[in-house]
Amino acid sequence: MNLRPLHRTFVAEATAVDLRDPPVRDIVDAMDRHAVLVFPGRELSEAEQITFARRFGPLDLGLKKVLQRPGRHQFEETIDISNVNASGNIADPESKKMYSQLANQLWHSDSSFQDPPARYSMLLSLVNPPQGGETEFADLRAAYDALPEAAKREIEGLRAQHYALHSRIELGDTEWTEAQKKAIAPVEWPLVRTHAGSGRKLLFVGVHATHIVGMHLGQGRLLLAELLEHATQREFVYRHAWRAGDLVMWDNRCVLHRGRRYDLSQRRELRRVTTEDSPA
Ligand SMILES: [Fe+2]
Repeated sequence: MNLRPLHRTFVAEATAVDLRDPPVRDIVDAMDRHAVLVFPGRELSEAEQITFARRFGPLDLGLKKVLQRPGRHQFEETIDISNVNASGNIADPESKKMYSQLANQLWHSDSSFQDPPARYSMLLSLVNPPQGGETEFADLRAAYDALPEAAKREIEGLRAQHYALHSRIELGDTEWTEAQKKAIAPVEWPLVRTHAGSGRKLLFVGVHATHIVGMHLGQGRLLLAELLEHATQREFVYRHAWRAGDLVMWDNRCVLHRGRRYDLSQRRELRRVTTEDSPA
Protein backbone atom coordinates (compact mmCIF):
# COMPACT_ATOMS: atom_id res chain seq x y z
CA MET A 1 0.00 0.00 0.00
CA ASN A 2 1.35 3.43 -0.97
CA LEU A 3 0.43 6.48 1.12
CA ARG A 4 0.59 10.09 -0.05
CA PRO A 5 -0.26 12.85 2.47
CA LEU A 6 -3.04 15.20 1.37
CA HIS A 7 -2.88 17.61 4.33
CA ARG A 8 -0.26 18.99 6.75
CA THR A 9 -1.53 17.12 9.85
CA PHE A 10 -3.78 14.24 8.65
CA VAL A 11 -5.35 12.53 5.59
CA ALA A 12 -3.52 10.39 3.05
CA GLU A 13 -4.34 8.92 -0.32
CA ALA A 14 -3.88 5.13 -0.31
CA THR A 15 -3.11 3.32 -3.56
CA ALA A 16 -1.74 -0.09 -4.56
CA VAL A 17 -4.06 -1.89 -2.17
CA ASP A 18 -6.71 -4.53 -2.86
CA LEU A 19 -9.82 -3.77 -0.80
CA ARG A 20 -11.28 -7.19 -1.69
CA ASP A 21 -8.34 -8.76 0.17
CA PRO A 22 -7.31 -5.90 2.45
CA PRO A 23 -4.11 -5.75 4.54
CA VAL A 24 -6.14 -5.01 7.70
CA ARG A 25 -3.19 -4.40 10.04
CA ASP A 26 -1.53 -1.97 7.60
CA ILE A 27 -4.78 -0.08 7.10
CA VAL A 28 -5.38 0.21 10.86
CA ASP A 29 -1.81 1.49 11.34
CA ALA A 30 -2.29 4.03 8.55
CA MET A 31 -5.65 5.07 10.03
CA ASP A 32 -4.08 5.56 13.48
CA ARG A 33 -1.56 7.92 11.90
CA HIS A 34 -3.59 9.74 9.22
CA ALA A 35 -7.20 9.37 10.55
CA VAL A 36 -8.62 9.68 7.00
CA LEU A 37 -7.65 7.53 4.02
CA VAL A 38 -8.79 8.21 0.46
CA PHE A 39 -8.89 5.12 -1.78
CA PRO A 40 -9.48 6.44 -5.31
CA GLY A 41 -11.11 4.56 -8.17
CA ARG A 42 -12.90 1.75 -6.33
CA GLU A 43 -15.68 -0.23 -7.90
CA LEU A 44 -16.91 -2.13 -4.87
CA SER A 45 -20.35 -3.68 -4.95
CA GLU A 46 -22.54 -3.18 -1.90
CA ALA A 47 -21.73 -6.69 -0.69
CA GLU A 48 -18.00 -6.10 -1.19
CA GLN A 49 -18.18 -2.84 0.76
CA ILE A 50 -19.94 -4.63 3.65
CA THR A 51 -17.38 -7.46 3.58
CA PHE A 52 -14.52 -4.93 3.62
CA ALA A 53 -16.03 -3.02 6.56
CA ARG A 54 -16.66 -6.18 8.61
CA ARG A 55 -12.92 -6.84 8.66
CA PHE A 56 -12.63 -3.85 11.02
CA GLY A 57 -15.33 -4.74 13.54
CA PRO A 58 -19.07 -5.16 14.08
CA LEU A 59 -21.21 -2.84 11.96
CA ASP A 60 -23.16 0.13 13.30
CA LEU A 61 -26.73 1.05 12.33
CA GLY A 62 -26.72 4.53 13.91
CA LEU A 63 -29.89 6.55 13.32
CA LYS A 64 -31.45 3.72 11.33
CA LYS A 65 -32.54 2.40 14.73
CA VAL A 66 -34.77 5.48 15.05
CA LEU A 67 -35.83 6.17 11.48
CA GLN A 68 -36.78 2.63 10.44
CA ARG A 69 -37.82 3.63 6.94
CA PRO A 70 -37.57 1.38 3.90
CA GLY A 71 -34.18 1.71 2.20
CA ARG A 72 -32.93 1.24 -1.35
CA HIS A 73 -30.22 -1.17 -0.37
CA GLN A 74 -29.85 -4.88 -0.01
CA PHE A 75 -28.12 -4.82 3.38
CA GLU A 76 -29.56 -3.33 6.55
CA GLU A 77 -26.07 -2.09 7.49
CA THR A 78 -25.74 0.05 4.35
CA ILE A 79 -26.45 3.71 5.08
CA ASP A 80 -27.84 5.65 2.14
CA ILE A 81 -26.19 9.07 1.94
CA SER A 82 -28.23 10.44 -0.93
CA ASN A 83 -31.12 12.69 -1.86
CA VAL A 84 -32.85 9.82 -3.64
CA ASN A 85 -36.01 8.22 -2.24
CA ALA A 86 -37.02 4.55 -2.11
CA SER A 87 -38.51 4.73 -5.63
CA GLY A 88 -35.27 6.10 -7.11
CA ASN A 89 -36.41 9.72 -7.56
CA ILE A 90 -35.04 12.92 -6.01
CA ALA A 91 -36.56 13.13 -2.51
CA ASP A 92 -39.18 15.71 -1.53
CA PRO A 93 -37.43 18.68 0.15
CA GLU A 94 -39.85 18.38 3.10
CA SER A 95 -39.20 14.67 3.67
CA LYS A 96 -37.30 13.23 6.66
CA LYS A 97 -34.86 11.83 4.12
CA MET A 98 -33.88 15.32 3.01
CA TYR A 99 -33.52 16.47 6.62
CA SER A 100 -30.95 13.71 7.07
CA GLN A 101 -29.02 15.14 4.13
CA LEU A 102 -29.15 18.61 5.67
CA ALA A 103 -28.10 17.35 9.10
CA ASN A 104 -25.07 15.76 7.44
CA GLN A 105 -23.93 19.28 6.59
CA LEU A 106 -23.33 20.07 10.29
CA TRP A 107 -19.97 19.10 11.85
CA HIS A 108 -20.32 15.72 13.56
CA SER A 109 -18.77 12.40 14.47
CA ASP A 110 -20.99 9.54 13.25
CA SER A 111 -23.08 7.98 16.03
CA SER A 112 -21.39 9.95 18.84
CA PHE A 113 -24.91 9.95 20.34
CA GLN A 114 -24.77 6.29 21.34
CA ASP A 115 -22.61 3.83 23.24
CA PRO A 116 -20.74 2.28 21.56
CA PRO A 117 -20.26 5.17 19.12
CA ALA A 118 -18.81 4.67 15.63
CA ARG A 119 -15.18 3.91 14.91
CA TYR A 120 -14.59 3.77 11.14
CA SER A 121 -16.95 5.09 8.48
CA MET A 122 -16.36 4.02 4.89
CA LEU A 123 -18.12 6.17 2.33
CA LEU A 124 -18.18 5.31 -1.37
CA SER A 125 -19.09 7.94 -3.94
CA LEU A 126 -21.46 6.88 -6.74
CA VAL A 127 -23.01 10.04 -8.27
CA ASN A 128 -21.98 13.66 -7.67
CA PRO A 129 -23.81 16.93 -8.30
CA PRO A 130 -22.15 19.32 -10.79
CA GLN A 131 -21.27 21.72 -7.95
CA GLY A 132 -20.81 21.46 -4.18
CA GLY A 133 -21.46 18.29 -2.17
CA GLU A 134 -17.84 17.93 -1.06
CA THR A 135 -17.08 16.43 2.36
CA GLU A 136 -14.84 18.20 4.86
CA PHE A 137 -12.88 16.61 7.70
CA ALA A 138 -11.46 18.31 10.81
CA ASP A 139 -8.46 16.97 12.75
CA LEU A 140 -9.46 16.85 16.45
CA ARG A 141 -6.00 15.75 17.62
CA ALA A 142 -4.27 18.71 15.97
CA ALA A 143 -7.04 20.98 17.28
CA TYR A 144 -6.43 19.77 20.85
CA ASP A 145 -2.66 20.19 20.53
CA ALA A 146 -3.15 23.80 19.37
CA LEU A 147 -5.32 24.84 22.35
CA PRO A 148 -3.67 27.29 24.76
CA GLU A 149 -2.56 25.58 27.99
CA ALA A 150 -5.14 27.56 29.99
CA ALA A 151 -7.95 26.27 27.77
CA LYS A 152 -6.67 22.69 28.11
CA ARG A 153 -6.77 23.06 31.90
CA GLU A 154 -10.25 24.63 31.78
CA ILE A 155 -11.85 21.77 29.83
CA GLU A 156 -10.02 18.83 31.39
CA GLY A 157 -12.56 16.62 33.15
CA LEU A 158 -15.64 18.23 31.53
CA ARG A 159 -18.22 15.99 29.90
CA ALA A 160 -20.71 16.74 27.14
CA GLN A 161 -24.03 15.01 26.60
CA HIS A 162 -24.74 13.84 23.03
CA TYR A 163 -28.24 13.18 21.72
CA ALA A 164 -29.29 11.53 18.45
CA LEU A 165 -32.03 13.97 17.43
CA HIS A 166 -30.37 17.21 18.57
CA SER A 167 -29.14 18.26 15.11
CA ARG A 168 -32.46 17.34 13.45
CA ILE A 169 -34.50 19.31 15.96
CA GLU A 170 -32.15 22.28 15.56
CA LEU A 171 -32.80 22.25 11.80
CA GLY A 172 -36.58 22.23 12.32
CA ASP A 173 -37.25 18.51 11.97
CA THR A 174 -39.24 18.35 15.20
CA GLU A 175 -41.88 15.69 14.52
CA TRP A 176 -40.81 12.57 16.36
CA THR A 177 -42.85 10.04 18.29
CA GLU A 178 -42.09 9.45 21.97
CA ALA A 179 -40.74 6.02 21.00
CA GLN A 180 -38.37 7.58 18.44
CA LYS A 181 -37.19 10.20 20.95
CA LYS A 182 -36.35 7.46 23.41
CA ALA A 183 -34.96 4.89 20.96
CA ILE A 184 -31.40 6.04 21.61
CA ALA A 185 -30.76 7.35 25.13
CA PRO A 186 -28.38 10.32 25.40
CA VAL A 187 -24.77 9.52 26.29
CA GLU A 188 -21.95 11.48 27.89
CA TRP A 189 -18.38 11.74 26.58
CA PRO A 190 -15.43 13.65 27.99
CA LEU A 191 -14.52 16.78 25.99
CA VAL A 192 -10.93 15.61 26.10
CA ARG A 193 -10.47 12.01 25.06
CA THR A 194 -7.43 9.88 24.31
CA HIS A 195 -7.33 8.18 20.92
CA ALA A 196 -6.83 4.49 21.56
CA GLY A 197 -4.90 3.94 18.32
CA SER A 198 -2.27 6.65 18.83
CA GLY A 199 -2.38 7.62 22.51
CA ARG A 200 -2.90 11.26 21.46
CA LYS A 201 -5.42 13.54 23.14
CA LEU A 202 -8.24 15.09 21.14
CA LEU A 203 -11.06 17.57 21.48
CA PHE A 204 -14.33 15.62 21.19
CA VAL A 205 -16.96 18.12 20.07
CA GLY A 206 -19.57 18.24 17.29
CA VAL A 207 -23.22 18.99 16.67
CA HIS A 208 -24.60 15.97 18.52
CA ALA A 209 -23.35 17.54 21.79
CA THR A 210 -26.31 19.22 23.50
CA HIS A 211 -24.74 20.64 26.66
CA ILE A 212 -21.94 20.31 29.18
CA VAL A 213 -22.90 18.20 32.15
CA GLY A 214 -23.20 20.19 35.38
CA MET A 215 -22.56 23.57 33.72
CA HIS A 216 -24.98 26.46 33.21
CA LEU A 217 -26.84 25.57 29.98
CA GLY A 218 -26.06 28.77 28.10
CA GLN A 219 -22.43 28.94 29.21
CA GLY A 220 -21.93 25.28 28.32
CA ARG A 221 -23.43 25.74 24.87
CA LEU A 222 -21.25 28.77 24.23
CA LEU A 223 -18.19 26.79 25.29
CA LEU A 224 -19.17 23.95 22.93
CA ALA A 225 -19.67 26.43 20.09
CA GLU A 226 -16.32 28.09 20.77
CA LEU A 227 -14.48 24.76 20.87
CA LEU A 228 -16.17 23.62 17.65
CA GLU A 229 -15.17 26.89 16.01
CA HIS A 230 -11.59 26.33 17.17
CA ALA A 231 -11.48 22.73 15.92
CA THR A 232 -12.83 23.58 12.48
CA GLN A 233 -10.50 26.44 11.58
CA ARG A 234 -9.17 26.05 8.03
CA GLU A 235 -5.74 24.88 9.19
CA PHE A 236 -7.31 21.75 10.72
CA VAL A 237 -9.65 21.01 7.79
CA TYR A 238 -9.28 18.92 4.64
CA ARG A 239 -11.93 19.24 1.93
CA HIS A 240 -12.57 16.22 -0.29
CA ALA A 241 -13.99 16.86 -3.76
CA TRP A 242 -15.55 13.51 -4.70
CA ARG A 243 -14.89 11.58 -7.89
CA ALA A 244 -17.23 8.65 -8.47
CA GLY A 245 -15.48 5.54 -7.16
CA ASP A 246 -13.65 7.27 -4.30
CA LEU A 247 -13.88 5.34 -1.05
CA VAL A 248 -13.01 7.49 1.95
CA MET A 249 -12.47 5.89 5.34
CA TRP A 250 -12.29 8.03 8.48
CA ASP A 251 -11.85 7.50 12.19
CA ASN A 252 -14.84 9.00 14.04
CA ARG A 253 -12.88 8.86 17.30
CA CYS A 254 -10.57 11.68 16.17
CA VAL A 255 -12.11 13.57 13.23
CA LEU A 256 -15.31 15.49 12.57
CA HIS A 257 -16.86 15.70 9.14
CA ARG A 258 -19.62 17.50 7.28
CA GLY A 259 -21.03 17.49 3.76
CA ARG A 260 -21.07 20.80 1.90
CA ARG A 261 -24.10 22.50 0.45
CA TYR A 262 -25.29 21.53 -3.01
CA ASP A 263 -28.39 21.99 -5.17
CA LEU A 264 -30.78 19.43 -3.65
CA SER A 265 -32.52 18.97 -7.00
CA GLN A 266 -29.27 17.49 -8.35
CA ARG A 267 -28.57 13.84 -7.70
CA ARG A 268 -25.94 13.02 -5.05
CA GLU A 269 -25.44 9.39 -4.06
CA LEU A 270 -22.97 7.86 -1.67
CA ARG A 271 -23.05 4.62 0.30
CA ARG A 272 -21.72 4.39 3.86
CA VAL A 273 -20.88 1.42 6.04
CA THR A 274 -19.67 2.07 9.58
CA THR A 275 -18.11 0.00 12.34
CA GLU A 276 -18.81 0.26 16.05
CA ASP A 277 -16.15 1.45 18.45
CA SER A 278 -16.53 -1.63 20.60
CA PRO A 279 -13.62 -3.20 22.48
CA ALA A 280 -11.62 -5.56 20.24
FE1 LIG B 1 -21.75 11.50 8.97
